[in-house]
Amino acid sequence: MTVSVQTDAAAGEALRPHAEHAFADELTALAATDDRPRPARWKLSPWAVSTYLLGGTLPDGTLITPKYVGPRRLVEAAVATLATDRALLLLGVPGTAKTWVSEHLAAAVSGDSTLLVQGTAGTPEEAVRYGWNYAQLLAHGPSREALVPSPVMRAMADGMTARIEELTRIPADVQDALITILSEKTLPVPELGQEVQAVRGFNLVATANDRDRGVNELSSALRRRFNTVVLPLPATPEAEVDIVSRRVAQTGRALDLPPAPDGMAEIRRVVTVFRELRDGITTDGRTTLKSPSGTLSTAEAISVVTGGLALAAHFGDGVLRPGDVAAGIIGAVIRDPAADRVVWQEYVETVVRERDGWKDFYRACREAAE
Ligand SMILES: Nc1ncnc2c1ncn2[C@@H]1O[C@H](COP(=O)(O)OP(=O)(O)OP(=O)(O)O)[C@@H](O)[C@H]1O
Ligand SMILES: [Mg+2]
Repeated sequence: MTVSVQTDAAAGEALRPHAEHAFADELTALAATDDRPRPARWKLSPWAVSTYLLGGTLPDGTLITPKYVGPRRLVEAAVATLATDRALLLLGVPGTAKTWVSEHLAAAVSGDSTLLVQGTAGTPEEAVRYGWNYAQLLAHGPSREALVPSPVMRAMADGMTARIEELTRIPADVQDALITILSEKTLPVPELGQEVQAVRGFNLVATANDRDRGVNELSSALRRRFNTVVLPLPATPEAEVDIVSRRVAQTGRALDLPPAPDGMAEIRRVVTVFRELRDGITTDGRTTLKSPSGTLSTAEAISVVTGGLALAAHFGDGVLRPGDVAAGIIGAVIRDPAADRVVWQEYVETVVRERDGWKDFYRACREAAE
């Protein structure tokens, strides 16, 4: 529970509502039909939590939209971990839905995805343990009222799911504050001679980026307290097109962008370009390619298409065309102005130019590059 400084009317217009609000109907329908055993303080059974994530149809006909598109076993492993006394670490390259899955897990398990600590190089120990309200502290000395609990402490006290984003960016000594929390399930407050004991239902979901490996490597003591689930890039082009089109439709609705008829062709093209450059080989397996320095993740494909939709809606006739996505694609591919530009030009001249049905896109790429 976050105390709001907003009026309810303004909060209802949130640009990006929390998962538990955006999908409240689905969560309610799942809870109503879910007769499997629920771990203490879980809003749903582990089975219903994974149905919420993967999608499905309930016995009463309610459709649950898939949030995560990927291997069922991974989601089941993640949910099962949360039902044990081990914490969950979601690991993967950028844009593989680590944050997204963590939010939806917390929403489905605890009904609240906001007990969140954002990890950065500057994350202080107070963000993981507790801080003090200094006015109170100076006026009345240390007391329970002067203590400002961290999201983790609140999750422990209430038996909820806490989330830590980008765990490996947090300095090692602050990370180590988690060891006591995860192994002893308690958070001592020596100033008060008290402790906060974790209540059943408490657990923690952390995310970490593969590319940050080595920044602040998890200590082995901490790593042993986590089960790691690695989220992969989408296995097939069809899966990736499916993810991009779903998320683009959702984002477009939130931004009041009209749906683009025939947008699928451009989505397919963006996904093809990204996958070919990422894999370093064309789809037909005939031409090897150099890969650019950027990640070209699914998340970036979603942004490129959403950006293209905004162009088409506000400056075009609402139809998503090659020219609307070309600049976005180039922006995502060319991160390093020297090396990536060569890679891109080679791709445009050897692959885009020769491909059937890609003439307009070729022209758009040439124009956008000028
Ligand atoms: N397999 C997938 N299923 C559903 N959505 C996906 C999938 N892969 C990526 N996405 C979408 O990509 C977007 C970005 O995901 P998210 O921000 O969670 O990535 P991340 O792994 O946390 O990246 P980073 O390492 O940069 O923090 C989300 O909108 C998510 O819906
Ligand atoms: Mg993330």
